[in-house]
Amino acid sequence: MRQITIIQGHPDPACNRLLHAMADAYAEGAAAGGHEVRRVEVAKLDFPILRTKEDFEKGTTPEALKDAQDAIRWADHLVFLYPLWLGDMPALFKAFLEQTLRPGFAFDYLAGGKIEMHLTGKSARIILTMGMPALAYRLWFGAHSLKSFERNILKFAGIRPVRRNLFGMVEGVSDTKRKKWLDELRRLGRDGS
Ligand SMILES: Cc1cc2nc3c(=O)[nH]c(=O)nc-3n(C[C@H](O)[C@H](O)[C@H](O)COP(=O)(O)O)c2cc1C
Repeated sequence: MRQITIIQGHPDPACNRLLHAMADAYAEGAAAGGHEVRRVEVAKLDFPILRTKEDFEKGTTPEALKDAQDAIRWADHLVFLYPLWLGDMPALFKAFLEQTLRPGFAFDYLAGGKIEMHLTGKSARIILTMGMPALAYRLWFGAHSLKSFERNILKFAGIRPVRRNLFGMVEGVSDTKRKKWLDELRRLGRDGS
């Protein structure tokens, strides 16, 4: 049995997008597989944008994000879901990561330019949806923003392995394909993977 935290990075607080159905399917599967699940809805959290290096390194986490940090600390597996916006993660989700994965929580700077990672022992899965074909994002754009999230943010804090699922051409997707995708998410949840 695993302790899984699902972090929904879609900025739409209406919670009726494909990604919300995907997070629900994953959570359903995880519950059926006997895993413990906690959920974070970034769109529903009221927090400021990080503006200075001083705040990042020496400031305190906004009150509204303390539960999210607690859910990240508690988990041994993290599932991040977000849509591709302007080739990258939506600004609100990036703002959430800047505020939560700060020094003292996710890592610490040591003398000699070394880094102490605080989130080791956790794995992650990234669920990314996009308007273009997923193959085009991988081959033509080199999946650059996804690699940056994996390497510069997650692995930097010690989170590994990081697995990923890319869903392309999501707009106007057929009911059959949507069901197939949700079944896939349910299976991943059941496996705690
Ligand atoms: C502001 C904005 C920017 C977007 N930028 C891109 C993009 O750069 N590349 C792409 O393939 N799709 C882009 N899209 C399409 C979204 O990725 C797509 O609508 C989303 O993955 C659908 O998921 P949802 O139904 O859960 O919102 C963009 C959509 C919006 C609203």
